[in-house]
Amino acid sequence: MTQPLSIIVLGTDLNTFKEVRTALTSDTRVQLLAGGDDAEQLYGEIVRLKPSAAIITIGANPEPAIKLIKNLSSEAPKTAIISAARNASSDVLLQSLRAGAREFLPLPIRAEELKTVLDRIGEFCNAQVETPKKKGRMIAVFSSKGGCGTSFLATNIAGCLGARTALVDLNLQAGDLPLFLGVDPKYSFADMAEKRDRLDDALIKSFITPYSSTLSLVAAPREADSADEIEPEHVFDVLQKLRESYDYVVLDPQHTFDSITLAALDQSDEVILVLTLDIPAIRSTQRALEIFDRLGYPRKKVRIVVNRWSKMIDLDLRQVEKFLGEPVIGFVPSDYQTAVTSINLGRPLVHSDPNSKIALEIRRIARTLTGGGPMPIMEEPKTKKTLWNTFFKRELEFQASMEKV
Ligand SMILES: Nc1ncnc2c1ncn2[C@@H]1O[C@H](COP(=O)(O)OP(=O)(O)O)[C@@H](O)[C@H]1O
Ligand SMILES: [Mg+2]
Repeated sequence: MTQPLSIIVLGTDLNTFKEVRTALTSDTRVQLLAGGDDAEQLYGEIVRLKPSAAIITIGANPEPAIKLIKNLSSEAPKTAIISAARNASSDVLLQSLRAGAREFLPLPIRAEELKTVLDRIGEFCNAQVETPKKKGRMIAVFSSKGGCGTSFLATNIAGCLGARTALVDLNLQAGDLPLFLGVDPKYSFADMAEKRDRLDDALIKSFITPYSSTLSLVAAPREADSADEIEPEHVFDVLQKLRESYDYVVLDPQHTFDSITLAALDQSDEVILVLTLDIPAIRSTQRALEIFDRLGYPRKKVRIVVNRWSKMIDLDLRQVEKFLGEPVIGFVPSDYQTAVTSINLGRPLVHSDPNSKIALEIRRIARTLTGGGPMPIMEEPKTKKTLWNTFFKRELEFQASMEKV
C-alpha cells in the first residue's frame, strides 16, 4: 500500500516537532504539509487543508493539547488525529482518545510503531472516501383528475424504459397496479417503510414483486390500516433507497395534492402530467400547473401528455397549449378495446401489442424521457375550429381580466 498520507505536525516546541519530522521520513507514504510549534497557525492549516492526519504532541501540561484535539475533531472530522507524548500517563492517553484522537504514539517514535499507526490511518482515510451513491431517475406519472389513464401510462412507460425499473404504486389506500401486471404481491410499500432504516439492495429485492428481468412492482399495501401508518418522510426515505437500487423509478401517485403525493412529486426528476381532452381535465391540469409553479418546480420538470386522444375530438390543440402555457409532448391515441385487453391480460401493452398505435406513442414518449431528446410526434393532431374555441377564448379573456385586477 503506497497511498500517500498528508500530515501536519504540531510540536510542543520546535525540537519535538523536528524529532517527529525525522521519524516520519522513515515512511515513504508521508507527505508533510506543515509543521512547527505555533498552535494557532497550525490549527488553521489543519482546518483549511484537511490533511489525512494531524500529529499533536502533548507536553507536561496536557490541557491545551487536549482542548485543541477536541476542537479539531469537530472542525476537521475527516482528519485522523494522532496524539503523541513522552512518558505519558495512562490518564493523559485516555484523555486524548476521549477528546477525539484516533491513535497514540509514544515519543520517541519507533519506526515499527509508526508503521502500524499509519497503516490504520490509511484504512481510516479509505473509509472516508465516499463512494458516490448511484441515483436512478425518478419519473412521476400524475394527473390531478382520476380516470385519465395515469396507472395505464405509468405501467407502460415503466415497461419500456429499457433498464432496471421499479414501478411504485403510491395509491396507498387502493392501489390497482398488480392487475395491470398480472401479479400477486406478497409484500408492499408498507413493509419497506417499516424497515426503511436498513433497506439495502437485498431487503428491497425481498419486498418487490418482480414482473420481468427489468421491471419490478412496489405494490400498495393490501390493508388500508398499514397505509395509514405511512408518513411523507417514510415515502421520501423509501424512494431515495429505491433510486439507489434502480436505474428508473416510475411513480403512480394519487390524484390529489396530499402530503405523500407532494413528497413524491418534489423528489421526482420529471412529472408527466396526464390529461384527457375534456373541459374538467384541461381545467384541472391548468390548476396543477399553477400549483407546480407555486411549489417552485422548474417548468422543464413538467411534461404534458394527452391520453385518449382521438381525431374525433374537435379541438384546436394550439389553443390548449396556449391555454396551459406549455407544449404537449405526446398524444396517446384512444383505443379502449386495445387498452382494456392489455389490462385484462395483466401485461403492459408495450409488451403484449408493441406495434399498436398506443404502444408506439408510449415508446416514443419513453425515448424522449430516457435522454433521446424530443422525438418527433408521429401523428400531429389536426387543428379544428369549433365550439372549443369559444371556451378557450372565454377562459383566456377571463385570465387576462384577472391579471389586470
Ligand atoms: N389511451 C387509452 N385509450 C383508451 N382507453 C384508455 C387509454 N388509456 C387508459 N384507458 C382506460 O382508461 C381507464 C382508466 O385508466 P387508469 O389508468 O386506471 O386511470 P387513472 O389511473 O388515471 O385513474 C382504464 O379502463 C383504461 O383501460
Ligand atoms: Mg390509477
